[in-house]
Amino acid sequence: MTTRIPPGPRLPAPLQHLMLVVSRRQSMRAFRRRYGSAFTIRPLTGPAVVLSDPALVRQLFLTSSDLVGNAELNLGRVFGPASLLGLEGERHHQHRKLLAPPFYGQRMQSYEAIVEEETRREAASWPEGEPVEVLPPMTRITLNVMLRAIFGSDGPELDALRVLTPLLTSLGTRLFLLPLPRTDLGRLTPWGRFNGYRRRFDAAVDALIARAQADPAFADRHDVLSIMLRARYDDGEPMSHQDIADEVLTLLVAGHETTAGTLAWAIERICRHPSLLARLASEASAGGGELRRATILEVQRIRPVVDIAGRQVLAGSVRLGEWEIPHGYTILVGIHLMHSDDSVFPDAAAFNPDRFAGVRPDRYAWVPFGGGYRRCIGAAFAEMEMDIVIRTLLRDFELDTTGEPDERWHSRGISFVPAKGGRVVVRRRAAAAPARPVPSSAASCPVPPSAATSPVPPSAASHPVSQRIVA
Ligand code: HEM
Repeated sequence: MTTRIPPGPRLPAPLQHLMLVVSRRQSMRAFRRRYGSAFTIRPLTGPAVVLSDPALVRQLFLTSSDLVGNAELNLGRVFGPASLLGLEGERHHQHRKLLAPPFYGQRMQSYEAIVEEETRREAASWPEGEPVEVLPPMTRITLNVMLRAIFGSDGPELDALRVLTPLLTSLGTRLFLLPLPRTDLGRLTPWGRFNGYRRRFDAAVDALIARAQADPAFADRHDVLSIMLRARYDDGEPMSHQDIADEVLTLLVAGHETTAGTLAWAIERICRHPSLLARLASEASAGGGELRRATILEVQRIRPVVDIAGRQVLAGSVRLGEWEIPHGYTILVGIHLMHSDDSVFPDAAAFNPDRFAGVRPDRYAWVPFGGGYRRCIGAAFAEMEMDIVIRTLLRDFELDTTGEPDERWHSRGISFVPAKGGRVVVRRRAAAAPARPVPSSAASCPVPPSAATSPVPPSAASHPVSQRIVA
């Protein structure tokens, strides 16, 4: 098969690598201006074709998982062999079918009260009339929500994970980008520290597993941990505790930092557009939400916290439009490149939520959650969570800008967040509901057994392989 790859910079690989590490977004934009919506880069990690044309992205996302797999450089390498991010083929499909249902369909409604409660708990201590940096509280809200969804409970038994998850997130998302051998040379080295945190994380998950299995109501529980514990592979074997810990870590990391970063951007963007802010506040007090949901879509378009989704060519070659990409090449979807292209989104630099009023965006042009058989399994959950957090803040507070200029992008390894953490000035509304302590009865995620859910997202539903792991 003759290969035909897009053109790209001829700079030496070490220089290209450095440019991508130091200023990935700017370098990518410069390459797109020079070479168009498909170009090839050659960093030290190997050649990669970068796409920002929705037609080519559509073709890529619809390509069979036998022909393209996840990018070799992915977080699964750090989070363990059973991490959804690193799994391929049948095992990836099995885990996805198991883990997706709790994050889809009617089950979302059962989490709304938890999200509102966590938001009020955090915002209770915000000072009035002076700048508040929202990223840290958003990170705690999204982590607590994810912990409660996974373990179906809340309380001191989750404290160890509340401490260890941010440490593993921040170290893991940086380590996977560094070409360091995975040698553990003691507590003072990065991998040594990571492995130490991981051992403590696994011990905490083991304790939570024992607690769940000792629960007389275990058979009726619908939290993610119980679903994994009851699952059986084809051969009747359950998931090992190590496999479960890999997936718990993956869900916690993938599910909290991205959502928190997007929320911080949402607040940063909204507060710099006073007339939009006024419309959102009156819509929230009237019980509506269409403009708010359009605003979240627009925030994710203009400030996508994850700027690329990667794949690897497994077949001899893969045809995308006029290009024939050879085996072993990485293919990157330039999420931010596509979202900032005027030919894809007219007047792309303008923050204009009305562009999404009453319409769902094109699923191959608006891709903050990636696409195809690896599309984010938490997309619906994240959308629900962001909607409820923003609704609660709009109802409880008058939000105001600090008068500071737009915040710059700051890289946290995987995600891009507002450099100053999304600073905003808040004042409590007179009628705001007071913050409530968490009653233990409300602390679990009550999911009725009858809750009918779409078992898998549309992308996974079209996967040809039958379900082989039984929940
Ligand atoms: C605004 C919030 C979020 C953003 C922007 C986001 C973004 C992404 C992106 C870009 C991918 C890669 C998709 C691809 O390769 O095509 C991904 C995958 C993934 N996300 Fe999210 N995500 C978010 C929230 C969540 C949440 C709440 C969860 C947990 C429920 C989650 C769990 C995952 C998992 C497990 C994967 C791997 C899927 C696979 O490889 O099959 N994410 N996410």
